[in-house]
Amino acid sequence: MLAMNYRGPFRVRADQKPYPEILHPNDAIVRVTRSCICGSDLHLYHGLVPDTRVGSTFGHEFIGVVEEVGPSVENVKVGDTVLVPFNIACGKCAFCKQELYGNCHESNPEATAVGGIFGYSHTAGGFDGGQAEYVRVPYADVGPTVIPDWMDPDDAVLLTDVVPTGYQAAEMGGIKKGDTVVVFGAGPVGIMAAKCSWLFGAARVIVIDHLEYRLDFVRKYAQCEAYNFKSLEDPVLFLKKTTDWLGADVCIDAVGGDAAGSAMQTITGRKLMLQAGSATALHWAINSVKKGGIVSIVGVYGPTDNLVPIGNVVNKGITIRANQASVKRLLPRLIEQIKEGRLNPKEIISHRVPLEEISDAYHIFSAKLDNCIKPILIPPLARV
Ligand SMILES: NC(=O)c1ccc[n+]([C@@H]2O[C@H](COP(=O)([O-])OP(=O)(O)OC[C@H]3O[C@@H](n4cnc5c(N)ncnc54)[C@H](O)[C@@H]3O)[C@@H](O)[C@H]2O)c1
Ligand SMILES: [Zn+2]
Ligand SMILES: [Zn+2]
Repeated sequence: MLAMNYRGPFRVRADQKPYPEILHPNDAIVRVTRSCICGSDLHLYHGLVPDTRVGSTFGHEFIGVVEEVGPSVENVKVGDTVLVPFNIACGKCAFCKQELYGNCHESNPEATAVGGIFGYSHTAGGFDGGQAEYVRVPYADVGPTVIPDWMDPDDAVLLTDVVPTGYQAAEMGGIKKGDTVVVFGAGPVGIMAAKCSWLFGAARVIVIDHLEYRLDFVRKYAQCEAYNFKSLEDPVLFLKKTTDWLGADVCIDAVGGDAAGSAMQTITGRKLMLQAGSATALHWAINSVKKGGIVSIVGVYGPTDNLVPIGNVVNKGITIRANQASVKRLLPRLIEQIKEGRLNPKEIISHRVPLEEISDAYHIFSAKLDNCIKPILIPPLARV
């Protein structure tokens, strides 16, 4: 089958790989009809994630048709069209029982932090992902969810990660009616976090990035204010000034370890890898939230350490909340939001690329070329 094949940092291509097999009675094989490239894949592509092995297939955002099921699978059947959350979760451990599906204790037993994630290095369990024609889906009774008939597949594929992650970013911010929310990052996740902040009662939503085309997009899509940090002398000072010198009630880091904006952070975090990515956006979030405020982190950082102003966290009495999104927990209410027309995720899709041209798609998305916001990949079988 055709699948994305990682060859090393900045080198990916589409290759023939063996068709996946059922390895456990609760596995399913899904024929992929659409998959996405995520900002999280860029951390892999840039070589920032430990134990990303040559020959692996990325892709944790995909939908498709169930082709085969193991003998114990009861909740989906061959022929079902399903969306598959990016978290691989057993559904039974102490963490899954608390609906912390991103922190499952069984799907990635080698790690104590993150659970299994499709196509996200051996740090996240070593599972092959869905940027392929077919993918093995473990715990098929837990994750895969049948896509409602009325739902557009382009919306469905964004429910596997981007929409729940943006929504959870806003939810973890504990936004109260009348709050001012600052979102760092106008990528797909930040765009969705800005959009969802209104659903929680925000009175003012401000987005910070340095890509003008994304700032233009988010202004229209999420009806918010948006500023280019390159044209601000000091983004923290600007945010304080525009909030009566108090700071925002809630700051959301939707950037993670690939952040730009500080030479020191970029050199130590992205070039020399002395820390687990550049923590510039997180730094700004901590410094521009008000005393007693909440910083919500969905931007991804590696497992080691980062340089952040922890003293300011203590002295300002900030609450920090963070996690991988718990997709399964959020799906019922997000499906409802799409049905009611309050969320229209597919509008963020900017590129539709044949799976064969995956190396171009990675390059365009990584280098932010051609006004790229969210690329989706279509395998050959899904085009006939
Ligand atoms: N927690 C989760 O469950 C989860 C799920 C999906 C993605 N993520 C993470 O969310 C982050 C964003 O994902 P994405 O798909 O939107 O990625 P993306 O790369 O498309 O977007 C990141 C944006 O941040 C901007 N940026 C860079 N430095 C900045 C700074 N200092 N301040 C403000 N903006 C800055 C970039 O210009 C870019 O537009 C990534 O770290 C990704 O790994 C987390
Ligand atoms: Zn993702
Ligand atoms: Zn579990």
